[in-house]
Amino acid sequence: MKKSKQEGRGEHPLLKLIDTSKIPAHVAIIMDGNGRWAKSRGLARIEGHKAGIEGVKAAVEAAQEVGVKYLTLYAFSVENWKRPESEVKELFNLLDHYLEKEKEKIEEEQIRFRTIGRLNDLPKKTKKNLEDVQNKTMNHKGLTLTFALSYGGRAEICDAIGKMIGKAKMGEFSSEVTEDIVQKYLYAPDLPDPDLLIRTSGEYRISNFLLWQIAYTEIIILDVLWPDFRPEHFYEAVLDYQRRERRYGGVSE
Ligand code: FPP
Repeated sequence: MKKSKQEGRGEHPLLKLIDTSKIPAHVAIIMDGNGRWAKSRGLARIEGHKAGIEGVKAAVEAAQEVGVKYLTLYAFSVENWKRPESEVKELFNLLDHYLEKEKEKIEEEQIRFRTIGRLNDLPKKTKKNLEDVQNKTMNHKGLTLTFALSYGGRAEICDAIGKMIGKAKMGEFSSEVTEDIVQKYLYAPDLPDPDLLIRTSGEYRISNFLLWQIAYTEIIILDVLWPDFRPEHFYEAVLDYQRRERRYGGVSE
């Protein structure tokens, strides 16, 4: 059987400081700052997105090194459709290219690839590529890597309510509405809530990401633009997370 990269640990000095008994199971990231990165270099915005692929690779590598089980990346929001058509088109081309280039690595490292969001909005070719990778990797045992695409937290809650109403109309929804029931109608009900949410580029905003799931998530804002994101930024965020006390509304022991 192919080996999952999560089994081995790298050599970075910060990795050695991480407490292996307190690893966040699920890390979600708002990848922000591609446009500013490009602008500061006098480049077109798409060059920032291209450079942002390095950030994606760094986050995947770091999550595997740390032993995180789930990594969720906010790649395209429902609001991002407002961007110029050319930027949107190039972003999806970039995603197609990324999937093609990374497919061997995904296989070799047993990455389980997932998506959340309104996939029907995506270009047909991209949607098919995403579905192919998801189907091929559904039994993989390594990192679960989820891309949020045409995703909005409010849209996800609306879609869940819509599905529940649909079931009720068919006479198939008789239980009372509880948090556990709502969870079942989300895009990826089996994913645990994120323990840690990282946002890059120094902005203090949630931007409609995982609104239901981040009720008790620890949030860390990093002052680095996404194309400059490297494994050490991830390690620093995990170390910061490990210094925090999570009380979930309770009191300290
Ligand atoms: C936010 O930066 C980034 C996005 C909207 C797109 C995320 C895309 C990538 C990380 C690269 C593409 C990679 C894949 C595999 C999908 P921004 O454009 O909002 O930056 P700004 O706030 O500085 O303008």
